[in-house]
Amino acid sequence: MTRFTVNNQPVEYQLDPRTPLLWALREASNLTGTKYGCGSGDCGACTVDIDGAAVRSCQVSIGSIEGTFVTTIEGLSANNDHPVQRAFLAANVVQCGYCIPGMVMAAAALLRRNRNPSEEDIAGAITNLCRCGIYPRLVEAVGRAAR
Ligand code: FES
Repeated sequence: MTRFTVNNQPVEYQLDPRTPLLWALREASNLTGTKYGCGSGDCGACTVDIDGAAVRSCQVSIGSIEGTFVTTIEGLSANNDHPVQRAFLAANVVQCGYCIPGMVMAAAALLRRNRNPSEEDIAGAITNLCRCGIYPRLVEAVGRAAR
């Protein structure tokens, strides 16, 4: 059994400890806001927060995060009103939307450790891929959220 906290709720998974966190969240906890894109750590669609850091959940086994605090997009804010979420809406970032939960989680983690990121900081910290090409609006939104 693997135990940790997801969105402030204790969870116990009766799964193989090698199970990627992504699949435990999506299939065992029905937290489908965390997306599967590549499964190889490249795209960032599966980004969640673990103990304050943005992490690609497809690359993390549940057995390796015993006792940690995981936050998914569902747990980021009470009413989708995190400053990053509000800024994404205000800047019309979303196009198809598939990559957005991971982008939001990466942006929120960045702003927790850097309240005034430069464009270079944003580009360096948010390496998530987007097939719609939202990057200019992403930079604008993160700048808005920082203000
Ligand atoms: Fe995890 Fe792409 S699904 S990085």
